[in-house]
Amino acid sequence: MALRLIQGGRASDGLPGLLIEHAGEVATMAGGLRVGARMDDASAIAAPGGDPQHEAAPAVACWEGRILAAGPRVELLQALEGSGYTLARFARLDAAGGTVTPGLIDPHTHLLFAGSREAELVLRQRGADYLEILQAGGGILSTVTATRAATEDELTEHGRRWLGEMLSHGTTTIEAKSGYGLDLPTELRLLEVAHRLGKEGPVEVLPTWLGAHAVAPEFRARPDGTEAYVRHLIEEQLPGVVAQGRARFADVFCERGVFSPAQARRILQAAARLGLGSRLHADELAPSGGAELAAELGAMSADHLAMPSAAGIDALAAAAGAGRPVIAVLLPATTWFLMHEEVAPARTFIERDIPVALATDFNPGTSPTPSLPLVMTVACLALKLTPTEALAAVTVNAAAALGIADDVGSIESGRQADLTIWSVPSHRQIPYWPAADLVRTVVKRGRVVVERAAI
Ligand code: NIG
Ligand code: FE
Repeated sequence: MALRLIQGGRASDGLPGLLIEHAGEVATMAGGLRVGARMDDASAIAAPGGDPQHEAAPAVACWEGRILAAGPRVELLQALEGSGYTLARFARLDAAGGTVTPGLIDPHTHLLFAGSREAELVLRQRGADYLEILQAGGGILSTVTATRAATEDELTEHGRRWLGEMLSHGTTTIEAKSGYGLDLPTELRLLEVAHRLGKEGPVEVLPTWLGAHAVAPEFRARPDGTEAYVRHLIEEQLPGVVAQGRARFADVFCERGVFSPAQARRILQAAARLGLGSRLHADELAPSGGAELAAELGAMSADHLAMPSAAGIDALAAAAGAGRPVIAVLLPATTWFLMHEEVAPARTFIERDIPVALATDFNPGTSPTPSLPLVMTVACLALKLTPTEALAAVTVNAAAALGIADDVGSIESGRQADLTIWSVPSHRQIPYWPAADLVRTVVKRGRVVVERAAI
């Protein structure tokens, strides 16, 4: 079996419609944001008796890049014809008993950087601490040095390569943070490259400004370095980023020893006044007030949350209860790769009706994986999510974390036709076969962009 990426997508033989037939299951994830017990509901339509040739086996109809409907095949065909859609104008795609899900959404990545940091893996195996490596000038700072030296072409080539990897693991939309420039020209370059790669497609890219990822090297020797860098962020980087118009969100690494909640509040409030949505790296390594701040600010997401305080969990639960949910974007591949024992209290979040999403955190230091299916596996094993909860967390809830749930993340009439077809008969098997290549076909905006062909 070979995986083929189709440049620009196959235009369904020039036809406006696409009909995916003979699925073993269609996990629609329809019905909106999942919290509490509903996280464990995939709104799935299964083939009767597990037979994809059955006339009532599920099918999905798309038209001009959007979903028309999903349902048992005979009923769907009748409904299409009854509404004036000529079946001859649909290209046919055989799901061959596989599972159809929404295209996966990765709501937290650091897509663009130069170099790699495999040496740190060995240092950490020998007991070195992640933040100590950073304070000694390694970690994020070593990637900053490499990234500043990289050309736009080099960053583009790197981004294209890893977006291709993400796509081949079923991902159709990602968020991509800057944060390895820490000066205005490099931050703008990262945001521009992320934007252009998204335009190039097929993976859609939503850029986030993460100037507050670490204190920039030129500020570190100064006694007031962190404070001076925060002022530089607010007074120089942020206006430049907003004038460029590529970033949708602002993010801060709010962590004991990096940026305090007070500093994060100033940065995110200034960014919000200029139209950027807020996200936070919150309580990754120690309870640092990040969850509390995310709730206070009404951030779109609080990410990591491996070590939230009880008050932080209460604050997120209260925000959700008040109808202003902050999505908890959990990054279990990061805690795994850092060999940390403390993992995000995902079951508590679900019990407290805090919506949970999952992301790769793709980056060279703490999570160099582009694979959301692998993250789903780790979430099941380490965070005790069910496979269905894990799928909700990388589809409908991940879309909500990015504010795009009206467009993507579920298979519902009117949504963008972003679909992944898996070579397993139920979505429950997606995290069950770790590191297997289960992606059979990927459809983006109604066009087939990946297909695994027998060779
Ligand atoms: O989300 N924790 C901060 N930022 C990244 C890691 C960045 C790096 O180590 O290069 C994260 O884990
Ligand atoms: Fe991150």
